[in-house]
Amino acid sequence: MRPLHVFVASTCLIAACIPRKPSLANGGATPSGASATAAGMPPPPQSVAIHQVSEIEPPPIEVASEPLPGFTRGINLGNALDAPQEGSWGVTLDEKHFVMAKAAGLDHIRLPVRFNSHAQNQPPYTIEESFFKRVDWALDRAQAHGLSIIIDLHHYEELMKKPVEHGDRLVAIWKQVAEHYKGRPASVAFELINEPCNELKSALLNPLQKRAIAAIRATNPTRLIIADSYFWAGADYLKELELPVDPNVIASFHHYQPILFTHQGMPFMPAEFQTRDIVFPGPPATPVTAVEAGQKLDWVNTWINAYNSQPIATNANGPNAIFDYFKLVEAYIKSSKRRVYLGEFGVTDNADPKSREEWLRLVRKEAEKRKIGWAVWDDGGKFRAMNVASGTWVAPIHAGLFE
Ligand code: BGC
Repeated sequence: MRPLHVFVASTCLIAACIPRKPSLANGGATPSGASATAAGMPPPPQSVAIHQVSEIEPPPIEVASEPLPGFTRGINLGNALDAPQEGSWGVTLDEKHFVMAKAAGLDHIRLPVRFNSHAQNQPPYTIEESFFKRVDWALDRAQAHGLSIIIDLHHYEELMKKPVEHGDRLVAIWKQVAEHYKGRPASVAFELINEPCNELKSALLNPLQKRAIAAIRATNPTRLIIADSYFWAGADYLKELELPVDPNVIASFHHYQPILFTHQGMPFMPAEFQTRDIVFPGPPATPVTAVEAGQKLDWVNTWINAYNSQPIATNANGPNAIFDYFKLVEAYIKSSKRRVYLGEFGVTDNADPKSREEWLRLVRKEAEKRKIGWAVWDDGGKFRAMNVASGTWVAPIHAGLFE
């Protein structure tokens, strides 16, 4: 093994024990900190990277996904229908969301929806008619603007904690959603469970997703269905996914690596993630000091040291960390021959604008090179890509996605 590979392999090992996104133990406050941004915008951080992504040659592509026409470039309209009530996290869907997405050149929307907060807790787990009407409206808007749309069942947190108890309810929800939307065109897709985590491990996730797919297939024989891997849709868990033989069942992963960079200072992350001023790509001009809670954890210390001191080629927050993650996806495409989709990627606005732009561009391009459709996270909150009130995009996000 060359030193680079030793490092890459060891970062994988480090990454494997890093919690991607711990449970949202924030008592229903917006997980994206939307209200904090809305109330008086703080100036963006000033720190800038001293290295260029272009210093590192990307590895050759070994295998690409079969493309997903209509679902190539998209945006998550998050913090709206996935909030406990629409508007409670500062985002209310508006026609302008769809207008801006289309005008920017996107072809689809990923729509996080918290059906579980709008369904009965006892059989037959009926979904509120008024909530269905709101989702219908979003689907109509997408269709009117020539956008495909993914209905993504998001934030079913009780399911993550008690998967066995909530399994029947999940299947009943999908049965109703499938029945309700069976007449919609193929530009409407279903995503079964956003970011399975905690107790919903692969051994329980696999049979549950199979049951939900069977319930959907009874009324929607060819509808595109997207299934996330365990561990917050971790690419390293794609290999544990067991899905039925069905050309229209797609596997999905999310890309927030390295998590100490993309989620730095996020209020819903634990104390060890609160180290700020982490730039992309590393190393930085001036080393950062991990927050106290981070200093107590080996994996954080190892990562911060590697970020502070390693040259860009082997840096823990360098392009190779991104390429490495895509290698996991390639391995899955090779072994499964299944199409894959990147349902979320993004960087908090706690990071400086240039670093966000560089990271987004790199991840987006690496996905596109492998014909993997993507959807950026998201329209609101701390990952905000667009401002519908003014009709403008956040500059570094727009540049990272489109330039
Ligand atoms: C979650 C959001 C979070 C985002 C980035 C999404 O899946 O629903 O709450 O802000 O990921 O971590």
